[in-house]
Amino acid sequence: MDGIIIKGGSKLQGEISIQGSKNTVLPIMAASILNSGITVLSNCPRISDVWDMVDLLKDIGCVIDFEENTLIINSKDVYKTEIDNALAEKIRASVVLLGPLLARFGHAKMSRPGGCNIGSRPINFHLDAFKKMNATCDETDNKVYVKSAKLTGASISLACSSVGATENIILAAVLAEGITEIHNAATEPEVVELCQFLVGMGSKIMGIGTDNLKITGVKCLQDIEYRIKPDRIVMGTYLCACMSAGGEITLKNCSLSDGVGYIDVICGMGAMLRCENDSIVIKSDGRIQAMNYIQTSPYPAFPTDMQSIVMSVLSKADGTSIIEETIFNKRLELALQLNKMGAIVEVKDNRAIITGVDYMKGTTVNAKDLRGGAALVIAGLGAEGITTIEDSFYIRRGYVDICSDLKKLGADIKWEKTNQEKEKGTQK
Ligand code: EPU
Repeated sequence: MDGIIIKGGSKLQGEISIQGSKNTVLPIMAASILNSGITVLSNCPRISDVWDMVDLLKDIGCVIDFEENTLIINSKDVYKTEIDNALAEKIRASVVLLGPLLARFGHAKMSRPGGCNIGSRPINFHLDAFKKMNATCDETDNKVYVKSAKLTGASISLACSSVGATENIILAAVLAEGITEIHNAATEPEVVELCQFLVGMGSKIMGIGTDNLKITGVKCLQDIEYRIKPDRIVMGTYLCACMSAGGEITLKNCSLSDGVGYIDVICGMGAMLRCENDSIVIKSDGRIQAMNYIQTSPYPAFPTDMQSIVMSVLSKADGTSIIEETIFNKRLELALQLNKMGAIVEVKDNRAIITGVDYMKGTTVNAKDLRGGAALVIAGLGAEGITTIEDSFYIRRGYVDICSDLKKLGADIKWEKTNQEKEKGTQK
């Protein structure tokens, strides 16, 4: 069986450290191929999405060493610009290899990127931007082929703020000729970090942290050592775990400012938070206050990646809450799983109406995506009896070891690994 088994009811106490950020490290790994040299990344999380990106980079010719949490990428001998189909389909972040390959070699080919099935995930903004930068984009046999004899800076306005498209345009623009402007650029911390990383490599980027970026192309980039910042969604997950189970825990290697957009929701639901050096302490008696209305939106508003996790906590709130999902509406399907555990969540269009219940009961539920899987773990911590979460491999995409972290905090939780998972998992 491939799952997680939780016996609910244990209060959490103790401290754990927050891992490096998944959505920061993946585009930075892709960025490493812009330089024909060495990139050293510390605080790199050993999660399956990172291992999949390692496989993608190795396949095109990078030499990689991953010791403890330090990833060393030598991209001197990259020789291939056609990305392997099966590897590309494993993770969404494979798409951000297009920009760097186009910038360094003038061409790249790949099938549609994979990733969690959380709603429609087109790549039209990425391709439209490349076209503006003097590239051609042909789509045949379910593959995208981008090509440019001379990639040139352009003024690009994104119809809606897309994290991946902003990253891909930046990655192409840093080596393009002339100036690229991105209007309505995503301002998520992961985009800011990518820019800071690229500046460290010698890129010229103005407006970092704003929605108007100006990138002046340079001829070449240099080697870099860079530390990946903590994962704001993992931090939010463990804050919510404490709210569901009750208790008092300390999260090290993070700060309240990492939780922009959701910290106010955590406080609104009734948790007590305080900062200590580079740690956050959260205390909760397990009683949850309902939230009238939460809407997911791009940074700095409430992040879609916290939506399922907060829905899970609100299932036991004192009253009715409404969450509106404006980015990936398939994420609301988590309601079906929570309802199996006794929650009362009704989904109408892109809204979830959550009528808080006094208690939830453990049963067998299915993870359908990464954050939805983590949300079920949170529900299980606060439920009566045993919760079994099947298809828990999704959770490994973004959490180094959610069971070991929660066990350290006193939860009764364990993995039930298949042989296949044992081979793949963190030992890789
Ligand atoms: N969109 C388009 N066309 C495009 C690109 C995006 O219509 O060409 C739409 C999408 O359909 C969506 C919206 O724009 O409705 C925003 O999508 P975005 O491009 O910002 O998302 P992404 O880059 O595919 C990243 C994260 C997601 C996170 C979103 C939003 C990575 C690898 N993934 O995805 O993370 O939810 O930004 O913040 O960085 C996760 O970690 O669980 C996860 C799914």
